[in-house]
Amino acid sequence: MSIYGFAKGTEFEKVAAASAQGEANGVMMYYALARLAKEQGLDELEIVFKELGDQEAVHAGFFAVMNSQYPQDFWDFVANVQKLEASAKGKYLPLAEKVRAAGCPEAAAEIERFAEEEAHHGVVLANILKKYAPQAQ
Ligand SMILES: [Fe+2]
Ligand SMILES: [Fe+2]
Repeated sequence: MSIYGFAKGTEFEKVAAASAQGEANGVMMYYALARLAKEQGLDELEIVFKELGDQEAVHAGFFAVMNSQYPQDFWDFVANVQKLEASAKGKYLPLAEKVRAAGCPEAAAEIERFAEEEAHHGVVLANILKKYAPQAQ
């Protein structure tokens, strides 16, 4: 049985929404801690924080589905996400340039890597749309 929308419009809606957001914030927090740990040479802690962050990501997705935060019939939604992903590179590259000019080449190089990853997300989504949902716009 699907849990989709089980909380929507019920006594569980508010707690599910707050939990989804709280868990999503937890992903950000744990990955920030992982990054800080790595910068401080604590590689084993980086792995632990990432593991906790990955679990929080699962929790966030779970509560979002309980509250039908995204459409169950998701292909048109995915088609829109694909467009956003494909355009993200165009925002990150100029940002990287500005950050480099402002004196932080380490951050600039990483933001450039993110730009490539966003473009990759766009390609992956375009490929699955082509394969599974050629009708989605
Ligand atoms: Fe959690
Ligand atoms: Fe992305």
